[in-house]
Amino acid sequence: MEAVIRRLAAEQDKQMRELETLLRFPSISTDPERVAHVRACAEYLVGQLQAQGFSRTVLHETAGHPIVTAEWRGAPGAPTVLLYGHYDVQPVDPLDLWATPPFEPALRDGRLFARGVADDKGQIFCHMKALEALLAEHGRLPVNVVLLFEGEEEIGSPNLDSFLRSHKELLACDCAVVSDTAMFAAGRPSITYGLKGLCYLELEVTGPSHDLHSGSFGGPVVNPLNTLAALLASLKDGQGRVAVAGFYDQVLPLTDVERRAFAALNFDVPGLMASLSVDALSPEAGYTVLEHLWARPTCDVNGFMGGFTGTGAKTVLPSRASAKVSFRLVPDQTPGEIADLVEAHWRRLLPAGVTLSVTRHHSGKPALTPIDHPVVKTGMAALEQGFGVPPVYQREGGSIPIVAAFDEVLGVKTVLMGFGLPDSRCHSPNENLSLENIFGGMRAAAWFYHLLPDAMAGA
Ligand code: BES
Ligand code: ZN
Repeated sequence: MEAVIRRLAAEQDKQMRELETLLRFPSISTDPERVAHVRACAEYLVGQLQAQGFSRTVLHETAGHPIVTAEWRGAPGAPTVLLYGHYDVQPVDPLDLWATPPFEPALRDGRLFARGVADDKGQIFCHMKALEALLAEHGRLPVNVVLLFEGEEEIGSPNLDSFLRSHKELLACDCAVVSDTAMFAAGRPSITYGLKGLCYLELEVTGPSHDLHSGSFGGPVVNPLNTLAALLASLKDGQGRVAVAGFYDQVLPLTDVERRAFAALNFDVPGLMASLSVDALSPEAGYTVLEHLWARPTCDVNGFMGGFTGTGAKTVLPSRASAKVSFRLVPDQTPGEIADLVEAHWRRLLPAGVTLSVTRHHSGKPALTPIDHPVVKTGMAALEQGFGVPPVYQREGGSIPIVAAFDEVLGVKTVLMGFGLPDSRCHSPNENLSLENIFGGMRAAAWFYHLLPDAMAGA
């Protein structure tokens, strides 16, 4: 491995130029105007993978953005690992809050700034360079590898589940690795063994056929916006709990072992508050901030619309009002069941005189990987080698819905070996990743593939 690590270190200038090329594609999956850019990014990846010596590099058409796969299966008898990542990125607005343009990578204070550098292009790049260095140095890889890069993760992976089901042979593997999460803190690498699921709903309350004078009609005519506010307010009690009947029925309780392990991490709550400029937090009664963030389900209103929002005052009783609400779920909650419970809750509270419609947006199942699985242990050992620090275990409040499908459809466990940082500003202006993590990530990825065969054989 020494030669591989030396090679990675010697090529840093070239790596940075290549990463910058990848980051210049404005591959915003949710933006219909960027369809061609998303495809161009996929085509670029196919070209890179071909040049690096992978076989069966394919751009697969889907009903949405393309999926890229490639493989190297020249190690008969050795395990096969599936590498998953996404090359699509989140929108960039508000654009004026970026210090430098989002698709013009810029280096400042040891960090590279660009949309997607942490989520997730920079992280898949670490794996690509690690595999390239292993191949260049040894002429072969220690394991068989299948690569799966999608362009729709940030819009809920609408076409990936069916792709897994229809490409089981292509994707056949023994375990999976995903680098699309963050470390516990700078200098404290971590393996993430739990992800939350997601249930995203949009509700619309409709009343009178048109907007009304709020004096002539207000009072007896039920106001859709008042009703919407009441429905939203009813979602949580004063204790930080979700007040929907049955919501917690399927929640897997935190074990004492887990609670002790979380506590031992000494999570910096004042530091979090300072970094967000808030002077208090309100975790669920009976749980710490970290427990609530990582292992308890949550509910957030993401936005609402309705009535008069212009400058000044207009006296109006709006005809309709709507809102977007998300629930982050933990094992063993399922998005469909939660949507049913929430919808029933709202219908029970709905006054006569208005109607309610609920749209179910994309959803995802939560995931939990057993920490004693050999792929997880390999991730731990690889991070220690790559960053020179023993990693910790953590869970996560974010979601990567396809991880549950790897288990259900392909029958494999996934290790989440994240190289991002808590202040990488994913989904926000000024997304960034430290060079330390980019280069450490490459080393850790190389070690991961090197260490995997022995770990899987010993299992
Ligand atoms: N990389 C994130 C997941 C993530 C978020 C990991 C925060 C670690 C910390 C991923 O790209 C993402 O944003 N997922 C979406 C999923 C949704 C669109 C179904 C999310 O969590 O909102
Ligand atoms: Zn994301």
